[in-house]
This record gives sequence, C-alpha cells and structure tokens, in this order.
Amino acid sequence: MTRKGKVTVVGAGFYGSTTAQRLAEYDIFEEVVLTDIIEVKPEGLALDMSQSRSIEGFETHVTGVTTGPNGEGYDRTEGSDIVIITAGMPRKPGMSRMDLIETNAKIVRQVAEQVAKFSPDAVVIVVSNPLDEMTALTANVTGFPKPRVIGQAGMLDTARFKQKVADRIGVPTSSVKAITLGSHGDTMVPVPSMVTVDDMPLRDVLDDATIEELVQQTRDGGAEIVALLKTGSAYYAPSAAAARMVRAVAEDSGEVMPVCAWVDGQYGISGVYLGVPARLGAGGIKEVVELPLADDEVAALREAAEAVRSKQADVENL
Ligand SMILES: NC(=O)c1ccc[n+]([C@@H]2O[C@H](COP(=O)([O-])OP(=O)(O)OC[C@H]3O[C@@H](n4cnc5c(N)ncnc54)[C@H](O)[C@@H]3O)[C@@H](O)[C@H]2O)c1
Repeated sequence: MTRKGKVTVVGAGFYGSTTAQRLAEYDIFEEVVLTDIIEVKPEGLALDMSQSRSIEGFETHVTGVTTGPNGEGYDRTEGSDIVIITAGMPRKPGMSRMDLIETNAKIVRQVAEQVAKFSPDAVVIVVSNPLDEMTALTANVTGFPKPRVIGQAGMLDTARFKQKVADRIGVPTSSVKAITLGSHGDTMVPVPSMVTVDDMPLRDVLDDATIEELVQQTRDGGAEIVALLKTGSAYYAPSAAAARMVRAVAEDSGEVMPVCAWVDGQYGISGVYLGVPARLGAGGIKEVVELPLADDEVAALREAAEAVRSKQADVENL
C-alpha cells in the first residue's frame, strides 16, 4: 500500500495526541508529526505510538518534536500537507469557551506564524477554542486563502446530537441523520427539521418538548463532559471529528461535513467564519453547501453569524 503525505498536529495534549494516534492508525500517511512546547513530551508520545505499530498494523511514521518560543523545531514540520492546531488551554468546569480567548489567541497566533513559514501550502484545521474566533485568527495570521483554513466543531456537535437522539430512542447512531450549524458556543444551531431516524422525520418520532430538550443537551454537550472530567475537556469524539476531516482532505473525498468555514454570501451571510455544511477535499473547502433550512433555522444561523462576527474582528487585537 502507498502511504503519502505529511500531517502535523500542533499541541500534544489530550486532543492532539488522540488525533495523532487516529491519523497514524488510518495508515494512509507517510508521516504524522506531533509537536508541543512541553519539553520531550511529544517525543515520548510519538515513541509510544510507534511501538503500537506492530500490534495495530500500521506503518505511518510518527515523529515527536518539542518546539520553542521562537519557532525552534518547526523545521521538522516543514512541507506539511495538512496541519491541525490543537495548541491552547481547554475549559475547566464553569468556564465558557470564550473565557479562553485571550490566552489561546496568543498561542494560536504564534503557531499560525510558524505554520505559514514552514508549510505555506498546507490546509489548516483549527480546533483550539473559542473555535470560530481561533479559525478566523489563523486565516488572518497565515494569510492563506480562506478555503485552506477550516475549523472543527460541527462534526463534533453533530455527533453529539446523533448520540443524544439515538440513545433517547434506543436505536443505533447509524439510524440517525442530523446536522448542527452556527457557532461552537451558545449560538450553536442544531437543526431538528433535518433530523431523521431510519428515514422518518424526527418530529414524527418525538414530541416537540423532547426534541427541544435534546437540542439543549447538544448545545451543552461540551460543558457536560467538562463537568464530569473536572480537569479538562472532551477529546475522544473531538479527535475523531478532526481526523475524519483530515482524511477527507487527504483523500480528496468530496464529502459534505459540518465544519467552520468562511461564509461568503451563502444563507444571506457574508464575511464570517461560521459552522455550515461544506464539501471537503484537496485544497480544503471546495464549496459551502446550502441546505433547505426552515425559516427559524436560517434566522438562528444569521443570529449566530452576528454573535461571532464582532468577536472575530476583536481577536485581531489580542
Ligand atoms: N473544537 C472543538 O470541538 C474542541 C473540542 C475539545 C477541545 N477543544 C479545544 O482544543 C484545545 C486543546 O484541548 P486539549 O484537551 O488537548 O488540551 P490540553 O491541555 O490537554 O493540551 C493542550 C496542549 O497545547 C500545548 N501548547 C500550549 N501552547 C503551545 C504552543 N505554543 N505550541 C504547541 N503546543 C502548545 C500545551 O502544552 C498542551 O500540551 C483547547 O483549546 C480546547 O478547548 C476544541
């Protein structure tokens, strides 16, 4: 089998290390590079992952690299085809994602500068929170064309929505089709009108009050896990989401996924990074897909756009 391409995961915390592991286990890449500022931690994790090769049956090379404040070590990421930015603080119980903005903006800015320098042709997938703002910041700092900078949130929020619906009804998650749009925050827009269970509209299966409860549980899905873990935020489902996006780009699959993308006229919204369905492939976003949403859902999407627009402008000054 031919393995090709180099993928760098910046940040070797819970999100970054689980993402690197998933990418390595796909066994489609030549090299996965995992970096962090914590001295020799990425080297240790990479060695550990490499030692699972003969058990899991993959041969992707996993490289760990400690990076320094002035870009030391980034030469080892040079020429990456795809870079995932997971560097930054996660939430603690009681915190909103927006509480992370000042700290993480400094981190993401510094990372984005090095990515632009060493991997000028990469597709960048951002996961650091607050997601929509960090994605916008990365696009501005790298100066990359907007289709090459994507945020991960909608894949995760959609997976949470499916889990909530499936578990409530008692069906496999594969029976549930769903989507969430909007921001990765309070103005997240789960879209009940597009949810089906074994091809039946959700509204024929559950009453409105139950649907609203599941929608709210989806919005609170991240906080629910933060409250349980107490010391950090979710990473198994988040890393699965980011890894699938990487794979869609690497394989030029053309899959439509809910992601944070630059919206330029679709849904009557312009000039903002927002959660929308988009076709992913080589070069990142191939197109933003317009779904036939109900009027109240379009209104909620526009409200989400306005909520993140000013923050995305402010983040420039942090
Ligand atoms: N978008 C989503 O859906 C989603 C879901 C979960 C978590 N997150 C976010 O992902 C981020 C990472 O979460 P985590 O659980 O891995 O946190 P974590 O604390 O386990 O790991 C973060 C890592 O980033 C590293 N880091 C800090 N500054 C760095 C720099 N300049 N260069 C390289 N590495 C640096 C830290 O040393 C740490 O190892 C957080 O901001 C979290 O809120 C996003």
